[in-house]
Amino acid sequence: MQIRTFRPSDEAAVIALWERAGIDRPWLDLHAEVAEKRRRDRSLFLVAVDHAEIIGAVMGAYDGRRGWVYHLAVDPPQQRRGLGNKLMEALEHRMLRLGVRKVNLQVRADNPGVASFYEGLGYVDEQLTSFGKWLGRRHDPQDSELD
Ligand SMILES: CC(C)(COP(=O)(O)OP(=O)(O)OC[C@H]1O[C@@H](n2cnc3c(N)ncnc32)[C@H](O)[C@@H]1OP(=O)(O)O)[C@@H](O)C(=O)NCCC(=O)NCCS
Repeated sequence: MQIRTFRPSDEAAVIALWERAGIDRPWLDLHAEVAEKRRRDRSLFLVAVDHAEIIGAVMGAYDGRRGWVYHLAVDPPQQRRGLGNKLMEALEHRMLRLGVRKVNLQVRADNPGVASFYEGLGYVDEQLTSFGKWLGRRHDPQDSELD
């Protein structure tokens, strides 16, 4: 298993992985997100590859103040084998090299199991309420999206 920077040829496999892992949401345009990610912080978009198959991915970002973690996913049959930890550690390492001092991430309220995963890595629930607003795009308020 190898963790490396995302390559354009990985796109279809990464999006399929995100779909299998339940990351996709009706309001997300994952192809557009990947295209945008290729224009900035490319070193923070990581994939885990095993025997030429993408089995994990995470999209990190650095906004100049904080590091952010998006779309961390491990292929369901590969979960609970330490890969999520390895991906996060690799991402944190790369962020540190870019000068990131603090990493933030959001967890959906309907995904409580993942809190233990992040707590195990030293992340703390900071008891903040997340606000968001779509710009220039209609949005269904029924969708309780986080990103
Ligand atoms: C969250 C996710 C990336 C974790 O990846 P993983 O490879 O399974 O995680 P690891 O094997 O490194 O887990 C390390 C530890 O985290 C904890 N943990 C991981 N998943 C957990 C879960 N679903 N419930 C409770 N604890 C969990 C456990 O303590 C685990 O150690 P253990 O297996 O020895 O008990 C993976 O479950 C996943 O892709 N989920 C679907 C997508 C998702 O929710 N992404 C996060 C969006 S915020």
